[in-house]
Amino acid sequence: MQPFKVLVVFGTRPEAIKLAPLIKELSRHPQEFSCQVAVTAQHREMLDQVLRLFQITPDYDLDIMSKGQTLEQVTSRALNGLARVLQTARPDIVLVHGDTTTTFAAALAAFYRQIKVGHVEAGLRTGNRYAPFPEEMNRRLAAALTDIHFAPTATARDNLLAEGIPARDIYVTGNTVIDALQATVRPDYRFSDPRLQAIDFKRRRVILVTAHRRENWGQPLREIFTALVEIIQRYQDVEVIFPVHYNPRVRQVATELLGGRERITLVDPLDYEPFANLMARSYLVMTDSGGLQEEAPALGKPVLVLRDVTERPEAVAAGTVRLVGTDRLNIIQASCELLEKQQLYLQMARAVNPYGDGRACSRIGAALKHYLGLRQTRPQDFQPCEKDS
Ligand code: UD1
Ligand code: UDP
Repeated sequence: MQPFKVLVVFGTRPEAIKLAPLIKELSRHPQEFSCQVAVTAQHREMLDQVLRLFQITPDYDLDIMSKGQTLEQVTSRALNGLARVLQTARPDIVLVHGDTTTTFAAALAAFYRQIKVGHVEAGLRTGNRYAPFPEEMNRRLAAALTDIHFAPTATARDNLLAEGIPARDIYVTGNTVIDALQATVRPDYRFSDPRLQAIDFKRRRVILVTAHRRENWGQPLREIFTALVEIIQRYQDVEVIFPVHYNPRVRQVATELLGGRERITLVDPLDYEPFANLMARSYLVMTDSGGLQEEAPALGKPVLVLRDVTERPEAVAAGTVRLVGTDRLNIIQASCELLEKQQLYLQMARAVNPYGDGRACSRIGAALKHYLGLRQTRPQDFQPCEKDS
């Protein structure tokens, strides 16, 4: 029998990080799967960083990114480009990940050609179609176009069931980000960037910051950055490291409000390896990112989430993630509590793993085989370890 032709499609940094270990896993089973990779390159430099690290050479690269691109541009370029790729590659199944515009466009392109779609990291919901925007809707649209749903957690599975998706089409796998993280964080890791090498983590408390969400462009980012300046002024042993997303809407405000300040270091987006290892050594994480809400709890790092709602409630329930929104005073108050109240800090700094155990990719591989009739038994659902979550 010919192996099943799997085309993995992605476009941005987080999709690449979370799909890289899955591509490796599928490639380990050449009798069952022949795996190809198509990137839209909705991100360019930030995608290439991950491709280099995980040594992935795409079979197709649409190279669609333009500076300051609109949602419509990304959607139409990805859809048209992927139509051509699908015509050439003729896969049996297309795998997409998460909630980006590439995710939605790839699922739609596959549907138009009546090719099956597998959605990795399926079923996350806030219930608010404008938050995160447009990611909540990208996920819902992708779900409607998907044949096989890889839900990372039981909560995500329940969200899909509530939307009428049959249980037989959903596999609970854990999140592949934990597979990526476990392969990347090492206690003996040495930074090659002299600015990171120079940090004395024993004497300095590092707040690792990332922010890029569309909902936060403009005034919310200003509130966040002003809060950071005040926090730094209050605590002389605190240092902020902020790898600034390449989006000009973020960079302009970050440079204006945070540039040239003592103990605030703005750096370009870091490669995943130094970034994950920096997170492992930080005191706390402040972010509006999705992925960091999954990674930091696994590393035992408290997270203050700069959003009003999250599609990742598991770590909030476990007590390591707290939603603080974007109000300057709220951010300052929550940060001060973590910097001053040791007991509270320790409660939030427990390592919890509601999102995965490092074996999500092997479960997805097994689920694919089951779905495609290559194995009889359904793989066991991922269940977080009781003591961890
Ligand atoms: C996109 C995703 C978002 C995801 C985020 C991860 C959509 C609508 N948004 O948001 O869900 O959380 O990626 O980071 O799919 N840029 C560069 N180089 C890069 C990457 C971006 O210069 O390598 C700049 C470009 O000017 C680009 C802009 O950033 O136009 C925005 O990129 P885009 O992918 O449209 O939006 P993100 O905010 O990155
Ligand atoms: N990340 C990285 N370098 C950075 C910042 C983040 O490698 O400078 C990683 C981070 O560890 C996580 C992912 O990028 O795995 C999150 O990406 P992002 O915040 O851009 O997107 P989101 O998760 O919000 O969709």
